[in-house]
Amino acid sequence: MTKLVVYLCSFSVSGLNDRARRDIISVIGSDFCKCYGVSGTEVKVELKDGESDKWDLAVAYDSLPGVTDAVSTRLNQFRDLAADDLFAVLPSSLGYGGRVTVRNISSILGAGTEKAGSREETEREEDEEEDPGSSYEKMARQFQAETPRFSFDQLVLEEDVKERMLEAVSILENREILFEEWNLKSIMSPSVLLNLYGEPGTGKSMAAEALADRLGKKIIRTAYADIESKYHGEGPKRLKAIFLAARQQDAVLFIDEADSMLSARLTNVSDGSAQAINSMRSQLLISLENHDGIVVFATNLIENYDRAFLTRLICLELRRPGRDARKKIWFNHLYPRGDDEKTLRIPLAEDIDLEALSAFDFCGRDIRNAVKQACIATVMKGKPKVDQTELTAACQRTEMDLKRVAAAAGRNRAFRPEAVSEAERARLIKDAAKILKEKETANGWK
Ligand SMILES: Nc1ncnc2c1ncn2[C@@H]1O[C@H](COP(=O)(O)OP(=O)(O)OP(=O)(O)O)[C@@H](O)[C@H]1O
Ligand SMILES: [Mg+2]
Repeated sequence: MTKLVVYLCSFSVSGLNDRARRDIISVIGSDFCKCYGVSGTEVKVELKDGESDKWDLAVAYDSLPGVTDAVSTRLNQFRDLAADDLFAVLPSSLGYGGRVTVRNISSILGAGTEKAGSREETEREEDEEEDPGSSYEKMARQFQAETPRFSFDQLVLEEDVKERMLEAVSILENREILFEEWNLKSIMSPSVLLNLYGEPGTGKSMAAEALADRLGKKIIRTAYADIESKYHGEGPKRLKAIFLAARQQDAVLFIDEADSMLSARLTNVSDGSAQAINSMRSQLLISLENHDGIVVFATNLIENYDRAFLTRLICLELRRPGRDARKKIWFNHLYPRGDDEKTLRIPLAEDIDLEALSAFDFCGRDIRNAVKQACIATVMKGKPKVDQTELTAACQRTEMDLKRVAAAAGRNRAFRPEAVSEAERARLIKDAAKILKEKETANGWK
């Protein structure tokens, strides 16, 4: 039987119910389970320094059907005291009289109890990870690294953001000196964890590829939806497999739509999907802790991020481009940069006016789409070169599309740019860009 040293803490109004405590102790054994009952609103969680070293797992038992603010505050307080990776919430669905067994605690807590498993078990699992026939290995093979499609000089960003990115890259480039010669590895892991956030179409995915290109590495692109699994307990395994794949292929790991994974862990875990998300988040913390490469997360939403993640990540905002930046993005999307296979070969007329094009308040993706539309129109009309007329027409169409989609989103009853505030306008455009992107993906335009 797995020996769990569990520190149990209840935040239920009536305190730790005797029966639940008895159930847990009877299964886990009193030697391996420490119970701590607290009740009501005057919860005082007092843990002595270093006490958490003695447990494999700290469990907060919540028997309320819904977690009120007060209770979730206390759960968080408890989590702060017990280390993050030790923390788990036992859901109310277990109930006072529910059967509490090591097996169902394990299945409920998912990745949390992997940590709590015996040392031999953990070692076995690590060996299994590397074993070519293991399920992790098989799963890891599904995630193949690809050659990055963008280079760093194609990316237009504000100077401070670009600098911070290059700084992150230089940690890896100078890894030998920093972590071996100067032995920084004795105090921190040589990993780089970046979180890129910002509005749709501002270059987050592109930046991840550009970083990989800069490092001369391949990239494994994945998104939350690829990792999440409808089979209970599969999500954390897939996540582990992805990290294994990145390690084996020495690739940059890019995790898109990361908000669902990185936001605060749910304290009301009475339903299965909430438990599954929590297990994923616990596994993610463990995988990040053990990883020694570069992981880039991307998200449109940074609100509600879990502090445990925030403190581990270098967070960079990719803002909508201003006029100068737009001009550079137009340039990069029209003119050739060199003579490699990535360079553009668009035949351009003499009259291209970047200044005029950059007046359209577009994000990078809108600019890319407008260029594509102008090229298609030029070919369809049998014109030899893309000219300013076609580019302007494409911009106007893109602008109209953005407005139409914003209207369809139901957020905009009468969209007149001059009639709405700047903030509102930015929000509408953001929504529209998101919907356009979905449309783009659905139509296979990308
Ligand atoms: N900052 C930028 N510099 C140069 N090109 C850009 C930039 N931002 C966007 N683009 C262009 O727009 C395309 C789409 O951008 P990308 O997919 O990286 O946006 P994103 O921020 O990941 O959007 P989303 O949040 O919708 O995933 C890029 O491939 C590139 O052609
Ligand atoms: Mg993206």
